[in-house]
Amino acid sequence: MKNLSSKFFLFISLGFLSANPIHAQETDDEYSYCFLCHGASGQGNIAIQAPAIAGISESYLHRQLDSYRNAYRGSDYSADPAGAEMLSVAQQLTSAQNEGIINFLAPYKNQSATHSGLDGDADEGKAHYEQQCSACHGNDGQGSDILMTDALTNLNDWYLVSSFNKYRDGTRGGNPDDTPAHQMHLFVQALPEDFPINDIAAYLRSKTISQ
Ligand code: HEC
Ligand code: HEC
Repeated sequence: MKNLSSKFFLFISLGFLSANPIHAQETDDEYSYCFLCHGASGQGNIAIQAPAIAGISESYLHRQLDSYRNAYRGSDYSADPAGAEMLSVAQQLTSAQNEGIINFLAPYKNQSATHSGLDGDADEGKAHYEQQCSACHGNDGQGSDILMTDALTNLNDWYLVSSFNKYRDGTRGGNPDDTPAHQMHLFVQALPEDFPINDIAAYLRSKTISQ
């Protein structure tokens, strides 16, 4: 499975990224290649581990693109091939292009993320969410610009779990200069090994917009 997806990453890189987006027309269509990986409406694509980006907030989008560009995310291909793939996309974007992306995504903002249907107990997850996550991610998982978080209800269930695991081992947030991610890394490291993240994923999945 791992080998297969690495080959797919390579295929995507060679096939699409070498067609340099900088020379595309100056219209919103110049970003449609984002959906080659992130799903036809930005709903996410588990086959290549690309999450939903349709409902992402402007500040969070820009900050995450900067994190890849600065190699806070995606710097280690063998530990994090999905992150490395996105790093190479982000490093090709100019700052003007960065600004255009949010307009390109606007028509898709109510598109719900697609889920893997992983097992989890949503009622248990709600209790854990309210105790452990809501202070920073909002009572309804809506996120907070001030606390530098984004809505978790727009995320794919599998991406919630994979991000959680990356924060745990420091693949994401290991660098103290990446302050918000580092905060999440320290928080996750302090949780017990058997923390029921799948239950939280099932709870947040049940709150997905327009299911
Ligand atoms: C070659 C495939 C590919 C293309 C093309 C691509 N992405 Fe990604 N993107 C990914 C993958 C894989 C991830 C998950 C990486 C990880 O786990 O760190 C990702 C992650 C992201 C994230 C982080 C989301 C989050 O909540 O953590 C953002 C934002 C993003 N991509 C935006 C874009 C935009 C905007 C474009 C078009 C300019 C784009 N991507 C094009 C593969 C791609
Ligand atoms: C002390 C505040 C704080 C708490 C508590 C917290 N988070 Fe976070 N979380 C953050 C911040 C800040 C970010 C943005 C980090 C970054 O830029 O990578 C984040 C990011 C995330 C992301 C990545 C989302 C994405 O689209 O990239 C996930 C998933 C997540 N948190 C899940 C949780 C869960 C589940 C809990 C409860 C078990 C939780 N968080 C508790 C502050 C917090």
